[in-house]
Amino acid sequence: TREQIEDLRRSHIAEYPDFPTPGVLFRDITPLLRDAGALREVIRYWMSLLPADIEYVVGTEARGFVLGAPLAYELGAGFVPVRKAGKLPGSPATLRYDLEYGSAVVQIPENSLPVGARTLVVDDLLATGGTAAATIELTRRFGVELLGASFLIELEGLQGRRKLPDVPLTTVWSIP
Ligand code: PRP
Ligand code: ADE
Repeated sequence: TREQIEDLRRSHIAEYPDFPTPGVLFRDITPLLRDAGALREVIRYWMSLLPADIEYVVGTEARGFVLGAPLAYELGAGFVPVRKAGKLPGSPATLRYDLEYGSAVVQIPENSLPVGARTLVVDDLLATGGTAAATIELTRRFGVELLGASFLIELEGLQGRRKLPDVPLTTVWSIP
């Protein structure tokens, strides 16, 4: 139920002030990941929020891999990784972006997604929205049908949604 899911946030997401930089309250998902029952419950609940007939899940390194892969598996969809620069062979498409604490360059594998493919972008956390906006831009370059973006946690105060207009968003936990 919704209440059980809310309880899991309180019990399984740890908070660390001033990490990795002063002023950031870091949300650590590793207590959730290591609890088999809690992980299964959250993935099952998350599945119930997603649109139908997803063909591909695009997930962002690193925590977007850990959560995107089980969702893709459960959906019967493929998984496409968006990686930090320098990890992908061939001629990956590239984009630089800013995040809550710094900036990064991300890449998507060449020929990853067919035109028109029903695609969902997944990550663990929406903060300023820079990572999600970059992932969505790289995804859209393939001419896919973008069904939405979905996050385990949304930090509403950072207003990441503003960077993602025209994208249906779903979140398991929205934190004011
Ligand atoms: C974190 C998080 C999101 C991003 C959100 O990733 O997993 O991908 O920041 O921040 P934003 O909305 O301000 O862009 P990070 O770059 O720390 O990488 P990691 O998953 O490898 O730890
Ligand atoms: N990524 C960006 N901001 C974050 C935060 N506050 N906690 C965990 N991951 C993050």
